[in-house]
Amino acid sequence: MNDASAEPVMSFRTRKWVRPEDLNANGTLFGGSLLRWIDEEAAVYAIIQLGQQRVVTKYMSEIVFVSSAREGDIVEIGLVATAFGRSSLTMRAEARNLFTQKSILTIEEMVFVHVDEQGRPAPHGFTEITYDRDRVPARHRASEAEGTSDRS
Ligand SMILES: CC(C)(COP(=O)(O)OP(=O)(O)OC[C@H]1O[C@@H](n2cnc3c(N)ncnc32)[C@H](O)[C@@H]1OP(=O)(O)O)[C@@H](O)C(=O)NCCC(=O)NCCS
Repeated sequence: MNDASAEPVMSFRTRKWVRPEDLNANGTLFGGSLLRWIDEEAAVYAIIQLGQQRVVTKYMSEIVFVSSAREGDIVEIGLVATAFGRSSLTMRAEARNLFTQKSILTIEEMVFVHVDEQGRPAPHGFTEITYDRDRVPARHRASEAEGTSDRS
């Protein structure tokens, strides 16, 4: 059980294996690959927290690369929600090297916004972190319960 008064703990759910195509000219992890992984992980996290598929990246605070990774290393990506707004979710992110245990970067604020079909900010209605899958967008829950796929 989670203690509601405790500071939410960052969970490191995603691990990425650094492959040759992820390297820069220095032979270490290319920043663009890492940022793509983090942006995707944050989008998935926002979908699970906000129960909405239509979420977009709005803002990322300063990104400072403090250490790196080499080919064959494993990078862990962690996220935690720090604020629920009307249409937005603010998260903190960290990437670390599983082998060296060093932090690669932290992003203090990443903001995702839930938008409607016209691309306008829309309320999501949540104020707290979920640690379950209870907000997974309903279209998928319904078809799963019926044992059907998304055929029309
Ligand atoms: C996301 C988008 C619809 C928001 O439009 P907007 O005019 O900024 O809307 P708002 O001013 O109503 O702000 C919406 C939310 O974002 C937050 N926000 C806006 N600017 C922000 C900023 N610079 N930093 C942090 N949060 C910000 C607001 O606080 C608001 O949150 P709340 O509803 O929880 O209070 C619009 O900016 C957009 O379409 N951007 C492109 C998104 C995209 O394509 N991302 C992928 C980039 S490759």
